[in-house]
Amino acid sequence: MKYIDNCSHLINWNSIIESVRNLEGTRVTYTKEFFNVNLPGFKELDEIWQNAGFQYGEPSIEWINYFPDQFGNNIVEEFSNFINVKPWMVWISRINVGRMAPLHKDAHSKINELLLLGSPKRFTCFIENPKESFGHVSIVDDVCITKFKQGDIYEWPSYNSWHAGGNGGITDKFQFNFWGYV
Ligand SMILES: [Fe+2]
Repeated sequence: MKYIDNCSHLINWNSIIESVRNLEGTRVTYTKEFFNVNLPGFKELDEIWQNAGFQYGEPSIEWINYFPDQFGNNIVEEFSNFINVKPWMVWISRINVGRMAPLHKDAHSKINELLLLGSPKRFTCFIENPKESFGHVSIVDDVCITKFKQGDIYEWPSYNSWHAGGNGGITDKFQFNFWGYV
């Protein structure tokens, strides 16, 4: 993970988090309905999770996504201009207490469209106040960053690195995710 910069002077992440906290978002769980193994990436992942012993309906596997229409397209534009990378898919992910996203690569049915646009890039922005992030875990490849300042931006080693997230803390976890291209 490569440190890029800090954007907290541009974006008030506390207010963004509060603006989505009570919204429903898109809830993702490990069910046969969600895991359409005919889509690129899902079959491989499904096999790995099944081999690991996860069962469909496993209650600890859950995360919630919020998209720009919920937290503001202006945030995407500010962030994109700041890092000088064009946005492709941007979202805030939430993992509630006691939940997790086991090791996976993000699967997207239209990933080939991103690859045609240019060189794909992936970024994580740590948007929580560090005081609120105790027990929150984000792993990308072999790196887990726990000491960060609110607004710290990291670039992933690859647009499709293996990663995992979990919440063993006592507050819900929020993170900003940016897939883009140059
Ligand atoms: Fe992911």
